[in-house]
Amino acid sequence: MPGSTKAMQTSFTAMRDASREDYQQIAHHSIEFGSGLPGRVMGHLEILAGDTGGYAVDRLTHSLQTATRAQRDGRDDEYVVCALLHDIGDTLACFNHADLAATILEPFVSEKNHWIVKHHGIFQGYYFFHHLDLDRDMRDRFRDHPYWKDCAEFCEKYDQNSFDPAYDTLALEHFGPLVESVFASLKKSIYLEGATDQAGNSESP
Ligand SMILES: [Fe+2]
Ligand SMILES: [Fe+2]
Repeated sequence: MPGSTKAMQTSFTAMRDASREDYQQIAHHSIEFGSGLPGRVMGHLEILAGDTGGYAVDRLTHSLQTATRAQRDGRDDEYVVCALLHDIGDTLACFNHADLAATILEPFVSEKNHWIVKHHGIFQGYYFFHHLDLDRDMRDRFRDHPYWKDCAEFCEKYDQNSFDPAYDTLALEHFGPLVESVFASLKKSIYLEGATDQAGNSESP
């Protein structure tokens, strides 16, 4: 309710003047705001609709198709959500989109899944960099990395082939519960470290 939220606002105007009680209130707001993250992620995926970038399907369809293929191949929910979000950075991070997706997912997924999303841009280049006079083997910079094979597999099986308008792609609504469940469980965050700090010394935003 907007009224009660307003009533709970703090009054300090500089963080150095805040009290512990102030930050108890702010933490309460943060928990509420955080619970809306899955909805905001779904809303941002919708922004990918319409623009094809010159491909045969738009960015949303490509994302849905990548996730659909991963799910039909038996991948678990976390992997499917990573597949769904892997290009969510297209609109705001046009020159490093994989980094933005990886940053959004990092607190909620395994190190391996995070690495796959973060590096898929370079690995996907294997399929087209040579057409742009770039090195298609740029991914081999990571040849000795333990997740090289996993990222190459993601691109080969689910990403590079998900531009097919005729494919039976599942709708965004289908993935809503998966997004809810993956974003419900925080695995890695400075705020988790703060929660175990008995002295109450948490990191500032
Ligand atoms: Fe991508
Ligand atoms: Fe993609």
